[in-house]
Amino acid sequence: MEQWKGKVAIVTGASSGIGREVAKQLALNGMTVIGCARNQSRLEELSQEVTGASGKVVAIKCDVRKEEEILSMFDNIKTQFGGADVCINNAGLGRVSPLLSGTTEDWREQMEVNVLATCIITREFVKQLKERNCDAGHIIIMNSIYGHTVPAEAPVHIYSATKWALRAITEGIRQELRMMNSEIKITQISPGHVYTEIFERAFNISKEEAKNIFDQIASEALYPEDIASTVLHVLSSPPRVQVHDMKVIPVTANLY
Ligand SMILES: NC(=O)c1ccc[n+]([C@@H]2O[C@H](COP(=O)([O-])OP(=O)(O)OC[C@H]3O[C@@H](n4cnc5c(N)ncnc54)[C@H](OP(=O)(O)O)[C@@H]3O)[C@@H](O)[C@H]2O)c1
Repeated sequence: MEQWKGKVAIVTGASSGIGREVAKQLALNGMTVIGCARNQSRLEELSQEVTGASGKVVAIKCDVRKEEEILSMFDNIKTQFGGADVCINNAGLGRVSPLLSGTTEDWREQMEVNVLATCIITREFVKQLKERNCDAGHIIIMNSIYGHTVPAEAPVHIYSATKWALRAITEGIRQELRMMNSEIKITQISPGHVYTEIFERAFNISKEEAKNIFDQIASEALYPEDIASTVLHVLSSPPRVQVHDMKVIPVTANLY
C-alpha cells in the first residue's frame, strides 16, 4: 500500500458493513478517505474512530441516487484535496421484490444505486484524473456472487440483474480505458455472503433474524474485514498487474 500513502480514495457506502471497513483500513494505511453515504452521523463516528491513524476519513453526505449530490461531492474533493486517486464503488442494496409482483420503486432504487450511480461516479472519477493528467488511478466495483449466478433461495432477481450489469460495465470500462491508452486500473470484487446490514435492510428484519439467514447459508459467513483485506491486496498489485475479477466466498457456503 506504500504507493497510495497520502493519496485520496473515495468509498461510497462508507457508513456501514463492507464500505465502512474498507474506508477504515485505507485510512489506517495512510490514505485520505472520502467516506460517502446518506447517514452523516455514522460517517462522523467512523471519522472519529480512525483519529490518530496515518490517514483519515472525511465524511461527505451524498445520496448517490441524486446526480447533483455526486457532482457536488466531486467539486468538494477537487477544492479540498485536488482530486481522488482511488474510487471504491461499494454503495449498494438489495430488495426482496419479485419480478412478477414487486414494486417499480424497489426496482428503480436498486438500478439507480447499484448501477447508475456506479457509472456516474466512475465517469466523474476518470474525468478528474484526466484533468490532472494523472494515469495512476484504480477503480474498484463491489459486485456480488449474485452477479455470476441467479439466486433460487430468495426473489432478489433485480438485485442479481444489477450485479450482472456491473460485470458488463466493469469489462466495458476496462475496454474504454485501454482505448484511451490509460493505465488506470479497474477491478471487480464479488463477495459471497458477508455479515453486514444487507439482509436487515433487504428483508426489513432484525439483526437476529438476519443472522439466522446467514447461518442457513454458511456455518460462518465472511466478515467485512475479509473483503477489506481483498481490497488492500488488489490495490497493492504492481503497475503491470490488473486483478480483473475476484470471487471471495465463505468456505462453508452451501449455495452458489
Ligand atoms: N453483505 C453481503 O453479503 C454482500 C455480498 C455481496 C456483495 N455485497 C455488496 O457489498 C456492498 C456493500 O453492502 P453491505 O453488505 O456492506 O451492506 P450494508 O451494510 O447495508 O451497507 C450498504 C451501504 O450502502 C449505502 N447506500 C445505500 N443506498 C445509498 C444511497 N442512495 N446513497 C448513498 N449510499 C447508499 C448505505 O449508506 P446509507 O444508508 O448511510 O446511505 C451503506 O453504507 C453492496 O454493493 C452489496 O451489494 C454484499
